[in-house]
Amino acid sequence: MTIKSAREIELMRKAGQVAVATLMGVDELIRPGVSTEAINRFVHADTLERGARPAPLNYHGFPKSVCTSVNHVVCHGIPSEKHILATGDIVNVDVTSVVDGYHGDTSVTFYVGEPKPDAKHVTEVARRSLDLGIAQVREGARLGDIGAAIQEFAEAQGCSVVRAFVGHGIGRIFHEAPQVSHVGRRGSGMRLKAGMCFTIEPMVNLGTYEVDVLADEWTAVTRDGALSAQFEHTLVVTKTGCEIFTKRPGPLKNSDRYAGLFV
Ligand code: MF3
Ligand code: CO
Ligand code: CO
Repeated sequence: MTIKSAREIELMRKAGQVAVATLMGVDELIRPGVSTEAINRFVHADTLERGARPAPLNYHGFPKSVCTSVNHVVCHGIPSEKHILATGDIVNVDVTSVVDGYHGDTSVTFYVGEPKPDAKHVTEVARRSLDLGIAQVREGARLGDIGAAIQEFAEAQGCSVVRAFVGHGIGRIFHEAPQVSHVGRRGSGMRLKAGMCFTIEPMVNLGTYEVDVLADEWTAVTRDGALSAQFEHTLVVTKTGCEIFTKRPGPLKNSDRYAGLFV
């Protein structure tokens, strides 16, 4: 687990802002009839235009430049021309940009047209879970405080929290120590120190937390086929809290319309 220097933090800030700018552009694209491959094409081109590189492309063999995870897909959905978004779908778009060697990683779940109550519930619980996890972060807090805050809230709302995938340290390396579990016990785990950079990215399910990975070796789906939603930010721990590198400049049209606040 590395502590980033002021110079590295400035580079992380830039990477985060590039990733979020591309994600704001995706928001303009989201509507029924658009393929997940069209999202991939946009993310790829927009990332290059910003002088960055899309980290997912060829990462451990991942074939595309962004992950698009629809409905019961938990994460790592592979964009496809054949997958056309339909009214009522929810789609998580997970953008990771590399700028001057440093990574910015952020995702949101978008509503395609008007959501049904179940889709709205799981999405808003996931959104709020990330906020509550982030609220735990400051120097001296424990990693377990983050997971506990997320788990307590999501389970009280009748949802479950995925165990099989976790948040992660991030910097020059896409996924580095520590692993940031989205479940846990308060007061347990590593003590946070100013300058640590990591993601928090809770995956919240309407049914069981168990997942299966499809034969393509990437697409993770809920075992029971129920809906799943996710939000992700990249941040740095400070003495009094944290700085969110991937903070959005304003609300998203296709995601924040039911949110009390946006982060
Ligand atoms: N962006 C994902 C994360 O939040 C990782 C995607 S890896 C890929 O950690 F290869 F699937 F792109
Ligand atoms: Co991540
Ligand atoms: Co991500």
